[in-house]
Amino acid sequence: MALITSTEMFKKALEGHYAVGAFNVNNMEIIQGITEAAQQEHSPFILQVSAGARKYAKTVYLVKLVEAAMEDTGLDTVLHLDHGEDFEICKQCVDDGFSSVMIDASKLPFDENVRETKRVVEYAHDRGVVVEAELGKLAGIEDNVNVSEADALFTDPDQAAEFVEKTGVDSLAIAIGTSHGAYKFKGEPRLDFDRLAKVHSLMPDFPIVLHGASSVPQEFVEFCNKYGGEIPGARGVPEDMLRKAATMGVAKINIDTDLRLAMTGNIRKVLFEQPDVFDPRTYLKPGREAIKNMVAHKMRDVLGSSGKY
Ligand code: G3H
Ligand code: 13P
Ligand code: ZN
Repeated sequence: MALITSTEMFKKALEGHYAVGAFNVNNMEIIQGITEAAQQEHSPFILQVSAGARKYAKTVYLVKLVEAAMEDTGLDTVLHLDHGEDFEICKQCVDDGFSSVMIDASKLPFDENVRETKRVVEYAHDRGVVVEAELGKLAGIEDNVNVSEADALFTDPDQAAEFVEKTGVDSLAIAIGTSHGAYKFKGEPRLDFDRLAKVHSLMPDFPIVLHGASSVPQEFVEFCNKYGGEIPGARGVPEDMLRKAATMGVAKINIDTDLRLAMTGNIRKVLFEQPDVFDPRTYLKPGREAIKNMVAHKMRDVLGSSGKY
């Protein structure tokens, strides 16, 4: 077992019309839950680390926990930096042993995004590391959004092709209506599939990435709320939209919020029902099991990646 890049994974996913799940990790239980699901489902998977995760757990702990999970399960995986803000952070993660980094310069104007991304690509590729970039602004489509507003926020397909050509980046996150967190849409959930189809038709063999792809299952929201949570009105991307995206060139689908909901709901249940419990293992164990079940469900019923490892 070893850390691998996503190159082969994405190639197979594009050919097989499925997507690989990229799951955010912050501690041992989350890493174990995800890898156990991948082992059970025989599914490829990506473990990704955000700036917040690095601050919370320290990179060295996360790298070693991921190595331990690979040794324990005998699986290969990708260790990916999620939303690297600048060249320095990407360089640090390449030097720390990550096999994939994301440079998220999407808030910069196009030319500066190209420049920053190209700089990361040159450094990473020289060291055998692959790079994801982002173009466009992640935001839910509100019911009354008009075409020019969508054009201002979402990824322009021609610009996406130009961006990939100019930077040599290995995958690209695009904006078609998804957004991060548990409150994604003001009105009915809607993704700009025409835009995705255009990007895919311009670059049929190129892996597209979808961020903000949690579905915020209502039963998990209700489960959290039943045991003392207060997350009213949360909503995500319907699972059938993700299944459709996975057949249209989306090779990587990012999921964090749904794992948080599953873990927290199950921890809440133990603490609510057993107020005498104060051994962390008593609530972290069902928390870890909930992560495993949620990830297995994603692989099997949403991403279509079960049996592809
Ligand atoms: O992209 C956002 C991910 O859900 C990571 O979230 O920055 O709170 O770790 P975080
Ligand atoms: P969610 O908040 O929808 O889970 O998205 C996670 C993500 O995009 C991480 O980069
Ligand atoms: Zn993201």
